[in-house]
Amino acid sequence: MGLKTLIAYGSKHGRTEMWAHKLAECIEGQVDVVDLKKSRDLDIDEYDRVILGSAVYAGRIRKEVLRFVDKYLDKLLYKKVGLFICCMSYDNTVDSLEVTFPQVLIEGAVVKSTFAGEFNLKRLNLFEKLIVKLVEANNELKPIKTDIEGFVAAINKA
Ligand SMILES: Cc1cc2nc3c(=O)[nH]c(=O)nc-3n(C[C@H](O)[C@H](O)[C@H](O)COP(=O)(O)O)c2cc1C
Repeated sequence: MGLKTLIAYGSKHGRTEMWAHKLAECIEGQVDVVDLKKSRDLDIDEYDRVILGSAVYAGRIRKEVLRFVDKYLDKLLYKKVGLFICCMSYDNTVDSLEVTFPQVLIEGAVVKSTFAGEFNLKRLNLFEKLIVKLVEANNELKPIKTDIEGFVAAINKA
């Protein structure tokens, strides 16, 4: 019998969602991909592995992800967990964010990674565009190298 994997993500403008589906294509066994904005009541007992992904806004992971993690933390601690964030600053990591996954979950995770975000200017509102301008003015934005293969290898090995 193959392993079952849940990929649960929080995304606002779609980049994190895209990475979640990319991962799903590469992971062995049955994989379910779930948008935490839409479904929060999940039977996570049926999964051997859980991958949690979140977009980063103002140094924080998404509320729906925090809510999910809070609700299922006891169970998550007994599973193989992979964590990723999707953002623009190359120096952001799961560990370094202002508001992030609980420390116990981070410590127990089999893999943690930072995937490249994007600024989709067409989809941003005026306020968001203003923030993006400020971020770009203050940061030298080095592109993030998204290591899907490394992430998947770690998950498959665990
Ligand atoms: C208003 C706003 C605030 C953001 N804040 C951060 C931030 O604090 N750190 C960062 O690395 N990226 C930041 N970003 C970049 C997002 O993480 C990036 O656009 C990512 O693709 C968002 O994921 P999503 O497309 O799944 O919503 C911000 C983007 C916007 C529009």
